Amino acid sequence: MSIKNSLTRRQALLLSSAGAAGLALGGLPDWARSAPSPATALPIPKLIEARNGEPVTLALQKSSHRFGVGRAVPSTGISSSYLGPVVRMRSGDTIPFRVENRLDEETTLHWHGLLIPSDVDGGPHNTIKPGGVWTPELKINQPAATHWFHPHPHGNTAKQVYGGLAGMMIVSDGGDRERGLPETYGVDDIPLVLQDKRFRRNGELVYQPAMMDLMHGFQGDTLIVNGAIAPVASVPAGFVRLRLLNAANARNFDLRFSDRRPFFVVGGDAGLLPEPVEVRDLVIAPAERYEVLVNFSDGRPVELVTGPDIHHGMGPGMMMMMPMGPARGSRGTETFMRFVPDPALKAGVTRMPRQLTTLAAPDIKSAVEWRTFVLDPMMGMGPGMMAMGTAGAGGTANDAGHDHAAAAQMMGINGRAFDMHRVDVTTRRGTSEIWEIQSATMAHPFHMHGVSFRILSNNGRPPVPAQSGWKDVVLVEDLAEILVRFDHPASAKMPFMYHCHILEHEDHGMMGQFAVA
Ligand code: C2O
Ligand code: CU
Ligand code: CU
Repeated sequence: MSIKNSLTRRQALLLSSAGAAGLALGGLPDWARSAPSPATALPIPKLIEARNGEPVTLALQKSSHRFGVGRAVPSTGISSSYLGPVVRMRSGDTIPFRVENRLDEETTLHWHGLLIPSDVDGGPHNTIKPGGVWTPELKINQPAATHWFHPHPHGNTAKQVYGGLAGMMIVSDGGDRERGLPETYGVDDIPLVLQDKRFRRNGELVYQPAMMDLMHGFQGDTLIVNGAIAPVASVPAGFVRLRLLNAANARNFDLRFSDRRPFFVVGGDAGLLPEPVEVRDLVIAPAERYEVLVNFSDGRPVELVTGPDIHHGMGPGMMMMMPMGPARGSRGTETFMRFVPDPALKAGVTRMPRQLTTLAAPDIKSAVEWRTFVLDPMMGMGPGMMAMGTAGAGGTANDAGHDHAAAAQMMGINGRAFDMHRVDVTTRRGTSEIWEIQSATMAHPFHMHGVSFRILSNNGRPPVPAQSGWKDVVLVEDLAEILVRFDHPASAKMPFMYHCHILEHEDHGMMGQFAVA
């Protein structure tokens, strides 16, 4: 379904006038800026409406894609030229997937946020060879929420996701109409996959992490939404639900609207909130999802922008090690996209919904175990570190051959780098545990597979209302405590992962494995 792709003449005029009216082109690289043409309409990914028992095929493939007004450049996508379709599934259904690897390297496809057993989860152990096919059957049984899928091959996740291999999944419970939430896909229920990229002068994507990029995570200088630079969406003049996914490798976005209008968070990573939470800005860390409602009934165009990534901050300890200082992050406000209300589009929802769901307070007494995890950005100046230093000084890690064996020693958790053959933690199915996550030097988005959790505290304070529901990512700046519920099995041979979702950190060892017995 692509209402936005078949633009009426009137809408096309609206878009070009919006462009002429001064859509901030701050995010455009030189090659795109020079071309005088109207702004791109927001691409709406194809919707796959999954039905119980009917196979859904996803093909990871090479392609070419137009990010802006320039020419198409080499890309990768999932059954698409860049990114993937949106797969909407009903809780209670069983969906047989067919995942085809048409790349010339090994991959996996992880269902980020799904509560399923580890043998169908698509972690680093579920590899698909080039030309191979993987056919997991997913029994969907969890609260309504926005999730995503992306590759997770050992040591190569960052490059593959950066190249365009990611897509959104929606789990629906059929209750949105009753809740009063917008649910017309692509019209008032809009997926927004947020990323930052670097482009070459010829418009091609660049992924060549130098040592600094491995330390901070690879950050771009150009923002894209659904694979488009500074797109424009026409929206009905009522309440519109935006499903926000931060699919950047490393950057936190500090989202707000250019006119500082309030907006309303209705859901976090793994479920709806009890009621809408009013905010004026919203930090979204890598891999986090938020569903928000925005009121466009005043008919005024507005831009979705992000402030600088102040939450990334490196502490003094880290700075001492890095004489060059922080790589990026000192920029001002940048524009993601523009919304233009169109009175010709029917507004399905014109009133703010009240109660969305019920949410019990976290049952701390139910915890049977307390564990501590320290995220180590750097494991000392060992031989691995020296090798990385050489790679950085000589240009890029890629140019230097990117020695993973050495690089993998750079990051770790509790003093140990990731090891496919070591299970770090074994939990008991049906129990809850408190996990305390510590970060000494910079903010890390900590994520776990196959579970959802509640934040008990973050930076010594209870979670802000927008983060008080079910989550699977928590941005740890200092110390966070989470209450995790283990309901899905994971054998020692095929364990679940916990890791930092800065993909360069994950690839270089900031990941561990847990079994659920
Ligand atoms: Cu999106 Cu292992 O994660
Ligand atoms: Cu995940
Ligand atoms: Cu990290």
